[in-house]
Amino acid sequence: MAENMKRFVGEHVIVTGGGSGFGQGIAHRFASEGAKVVVADVNKEWGEKVAAEIKGKGGTALFLSVDVSSEDSCIELVKKAAAAFGPVTIAVSNAGISETKSSALEITPDDWDRVYGVNVRGSFMFCRACANNMMENEVKGSITTISSIMGRSAKSMTGAYASSKAAVIMFTKCLAKCFAPMGIRVNSIAPGMAATNLYRQVEQEMMMEKDSFVPWIIEQCVNTGQLLIPRQAEPEDIAAAVAFLASKDASYITAQVLCVDGGMDWCW
Ligand SMILES: NC(=O)c1ccc[n+]([C@@H]2O[C@H](COP(=O)([O-])OP(=O)(O)OC[C@H]3O[C@@H](n4cnc5c(N)ncnc54)[C@H](O)[C@@H]3O)[C@@H](O)[C@H]2O)c1
Repeated sequence: MAENMKRFVGEHVIVTGGGSGFGQGIAHRFASEGAKVVVADVNKEWGEKVAAEIKGKGGTALFLSVDVSSEDSCIELVKKAAAAFGPVTIAVSNAGISETKSSALEITPDDWDRVYGVNVRGSFMFCRACANNMMENEVKGSITTISSIMGRSAKSMTGAYASSKAAVIMFTKCLAKCFAPMGIRVNSIAPGMAATNLYRQVEQEMMMEKDSFVPWIIEQCVNTGQLLIPRQAEPEDIAAAVAFLASKDASYITAQVLCVDGGMDWCW
């Protein structure tokens, strides 16, 4: 980031899943550019840690507990956030989970519902709660969802996860149309793969070491020419793209999916 780039002074940002991985990077990025950041997470320990890190660097942050799979919890989150930092101006719907069994043949109905409850219903309800707050306060804000490259190409693995991310891409476009008359922009970032806590379950299932699954996939993609930039995604890559979409530089951009994936052309 360019030194002294402070595009978000006075802005109020809520980041769901802000306690880990991409969300942690996104929360830090907005705070470093002057925003007041609500780190919202179902994991209190992780969320509080990130809020404390930001404050330790001189930024403004607050941890608020949320389970996005509950609409009441999303509404309560926005209410508490607005009471602390004023109207929401930027929302980042980042919280997401994957299934516990990765083979499409093994996904149970309960697991399917759990994934959709967080990734689709939860993300949608959070976006809507934020949009309602923006509209009540006549804020022409920005909402960004985090989808995935997996929502754009079919795999035999991760049937619930991949299809849930395809749903995120579509509802993002629906919300962009719905909120356009109020001046609210809605876009999605489709990240490539990064070694985060999202893959703990897969690693256990495959009896792999912590943080070894993603490097293994990345190596295969590089060797087969499916990845143009030969490395995994980093939270900073995703955070930079989210910050761009929320910035004034993106004021003519809505209903788009920006792939931040190193040029991954995935066909396995
Ligand atoms: N890591 C990747 O390779 C990758 C690739 C593409 C997209 N994504 C997406 O990026 C987003 C962030 O994932 P990550 O990789 O940083 O994973 P992560 O597991 O490190 O972080 C996810 C965060 O969401 C929180 N969370 C989970 N369920 C929640 C709920 N019900 N309510 C509130 N918070 C909840 C978790 O506590 C955690 O802090 C997800 O939407 C994920 O699907 C990840």
